[in-house]
Amino acid sequence: KKIVLAYSGGLDTSVLIPWLKENYGAEIIAVSGNVGQKSELEGLEEKALATGASKLYIEDLNQEFVDEYIIPTIKAGATYEQYLLGTSFARPLIAKRIVEIAKKEGADAICHGCTGKGNDQVRFELAIKAFAPEIDIIAPWRFWELNSREKEIEYAEQHHIPLKINKETNYSKDKNLWHLSHEGLDLEDPANEAPINKEGFLELGVSPEQAPDQPEYVTIHFEQGVPTAVNGEEMNSVELIELLNTIGGKNGIGILDIVENRLVGMKSRGVYETPGGTILYAAHQKLEEITLDKETQHYKNQVALKFGELVYNGLWYTPLRKALSAFVDETQKNVTGDVTLKLYKGNIIPASVTSKYSLYSAGMATFDEDDCYDQSDSAGFINLFGLPIKVRALQDQQLFEE
Ligand code: ARG
Ligand code: SIN
Repeated sequence: KKIVLAYSGGLDTSVLIPWLKENYGAEIIAVSGNVGQKSELEGLEEKALATGASKLYIEDLNQEFVDEYIIPTIKAGATYEQYLLGTSFARPLIAKRIVEIAKKEGADAICHGCTGKGNDQVRFELAIKAFAPEIDIIAPWRFWELNSREKEIEYAEQHHIPLKINKETNYSKDKNLWHLSHEGLDLEDPANEAPINKEGFLELGVSPEQAPDQPEYVTIHFEQGVPTAVNGEEMNSVELIELLNTIGGKNGIGILDIVENRLVGMKSRGVYETPGGTILYAAHQKLEEITLDKETQHYKNQVALKFGELVYNGLWYTPLRKALSAFVDETQKNVTGDVTLKLYKGNIIPASVTSKYSLYSAGMATFDEDDCYDQSDSAGFINLFGLPIKVRALQDQQLFEE
């Protein structure tokens, strides 16, 4: 028997290797998706093999992550309750690659280390079902005896699994190119202020208080809704996000602290670091303000809401998500131009926006004299637009003529 394991090297998935071998007598093939979690990937192979995996695949998914998942979501302007979906859109991609490897290896089952209380289990499994509806899925957290951090640590110690665990800072984290999430420990009580000024808590940047007292300007160029250059320099999309993470991080940008509604029904508190992403969302929205017509802009906001729900709920590989992406792409044809933002101690302050497709007409909007807008047109417009209000008022006051 062969089991492919979604492996991160963290406590949960490390313990899973010996546990699966003991309980299923299977060969374990570990798979890690590199989506930009950087140092977390160091020493991973050694660790996987030392704990009993027969091999470890580390799949570089960075470029695909940005181009096929992150950018379509930026274009949609989608969030879930303000959350920029960093974990949500990484899971389907990782799961898709795991299925490919499971098929190549002729595996009998895919195992993941998500708890039965979260969203990630749903995202993994819906993606697995989308590509391999026939394969068995093993989710030990839902039934095993190691149902607490303590029991897991004890099991790890018995099985000589090296752990770099510090009880105080051992938040449940998920890191990738787009974001870092923190959940658990003191954050579980929303009455506790998030310790963002505590040394070592934030990893992608500093808190607003710790940011420089001078503002920093950043200019982003978009082509049809896709960010292609920063401060006049064209770059690859992965590098672009890394650069914006650095710039945003040092200015305290993109720290979000929310209580969110999980798919499984409970509320949960999370702190998210999304420095580059927060800049990109703000810049993209600024550019849409001048390049989208009113009705498209408004309708697109409704699409963004639904798109965000689909992504959060693990429904990436569905006809509706794809159809909404097609709609979004159509709206982006003229979303080309430059946006300059001023970053200052956690704030994003718009500075400038320009586009050769701008619908903004200074002549129309000016308070000075113009020759393109006839103010006398407004009288008839308001008469008709206000007709229902007028009729109701006449009725109320019994002033209708027979
Ligand atoms: N609450 C966020 C989400 O549902 C973050 C989840 C982080 N996952 C993790 N395994 N630590 O997308
Ligand atoms: C987990 O339960 O594995 C992490 C949190 C989540 O999936 O939402």
